Amino acid sequence: MASHACTIRNLTLLLIICLPLSTSIDFNYPAVFNFGDSNSDTGGLVAGLAEALDPPNGQIYFQKPSGRFCDGRLIIDFLMDAMDLPFLNPYLDSIAAPSFRRGCNFAAAGSTILPATASSVSPFSFGIQVAQFFRFKAKVEDILAKTRKYDKYIPAQDYFQKALYMFDIGQNDLAGAFYSKTLDQILASIPTILLEFEHGIESLYDQGARNFWIHNTGPLGCLPQNIAKFGTDSLKLDELGCVSSHNQASRLLNLQLRALCKKLQGQYPDANITHVDIFTIKSNLIANYSRYGFEQPLMACCGYGGPPLNYDSGIACGQTKVLNGSSVTAKGCNDSTEYVNWDGIHYTEAANQYVASQVFTGKYSDPPFADKMPFLLKLKF
Ligand SMILES: *[C@@H]1O[C@H](CO)[C@@H](O)[C@H](O)[C@H]1NC(C)=O
Ligand SMILES: *[C@@H]1O[C@H](CO)[C@@H](O)[C@H](O)[C@H]1NC(C)=O
Ligand SMILES: *[C@@H]1O[C@H](CO)[C@@H](O)[C@H](O)[C@H]1NC(C)=O
Ligand SMILES: *[C@@H]1O[C@H](CO)[C@@H](O)[C@H](O)[C@H]1NC(C)=O
Repeated sequence: MASHACTIRNLTLLLIICLPLSTSIDFNYPAVFNFGDSNSDTGGLVAGLAEALDPPNGQIYFQKPSGRFCDGRLIIDFLMDAMDLPFLNPYLDSIAAPSFRRGCNFAAAGSTILPATASSVSPFSFGIQVAQFFRFKAKVEDILAKTRKYDKYIPAQDYFQKALYMFDIGQNDLAGAFYSKTLDQILASIPTILLEFEHGIESLYDQGARNFWIHNTGPLGCLPQNIAKFGTDSLKLDELGCVSSHNQASRLLNLQLRALCKKLQGQYPDANITHVDIFTIKSNLIANYSRYGFEQPLMACCGYGGPPLNYDSGIACGQTKVLNGSSVTAKGCNDSTEYVNWDGIHYTEAANQYVASQVFTGKYSDPPFADKMPFLLKLKF
């Protein structure tokens, strides 16, 4: 990883030299409200279902499981850090007086845009997360009307309008569907998924949200979980070794999401809607991993089964189970910074850091923002 860290350091240096300092205050957000799935869950599902993650989750940065499905930090943690804001506390975390002064995280692993069903991993689908936000806002306004005693813990009234509203959700709507539907059925369901997303955005706008930051979905077919289940026939794999149908679904969802962002921007000229192309960043990382200091683009670091995927759907990272009469454990690899994938479904901290560094360039954003990024100067890589 030495070369990786070096590249990023050089990149930061380059940007410091090249960027004009006459920047606007666009990234001076007082708070962030985030909605999503495991890609940005900082402990929501674990708090909500009270089902702990096992070590080595969290080993790199937090030194213990942090509620994140990762060895360390997520993309959103790097974004918060770069904006000089603290990591977001989950809405569902009730203990130890978590501060929500600078925002709140409604994301929960496994969540879908479409309403959850009895078999969903997470009951906290997008509509519920948006409803949780409304309850959060109403309670904050209630408290602000009565007392200043809790100012340290809750957003100021004007933060709701000035905040950045971030979204990273949709991956599970596609991933789950592949277990019961054909590709054509899944592709045909995408407009319905995005209509539900649009309703959520519109109701947030109606409640005063104005700054929207929307991540598209990653290359779903490159996750070991999907390769193990749907990629056993090599004819189903693309040139990277990823499941073609899954990536095709991700691409179509992303095309329509991008069109939706354009439409919303037209509909709400007083709002800023930024679309971030995470798919391109992650695909590039998986295709050109060695250039970015990685050694394993597809194999999970923490898992059971060994190469090529080191993934067994029956044993989650850190778990021990009896298989064929003997006890086996899904262990972590020696050096997770060499791996793109952490546990077969989620990315490693090293990969998340790479993705965040690419987000910061502004090149993958629509509209691009490289000339308005004072926070770039505070990068702590
Ligand atoms: C949207 O961005 C523009 C500049 O890109 C900025 O002037 C404006 O204040 C932003 N709008 C909101 C609601 O923050
Ligand atoms: C990998 O890198 C090459 C050379 O820069 C680039 O043309 C290609 O698009 C990259 N692959 C992906 C999937 O982004
Ligand atoms: C369990 O044993 C069967 C039969 O020997 C074998 O095919 C299978 O791969 C084994 N499973 C694991 C997880 O080792
Ligand atoms: C991990 O490290 C141990 C001890 O240094 C070594 O014996 C083992 O071969 C390593 N495993 C891999 C997969 O590199």
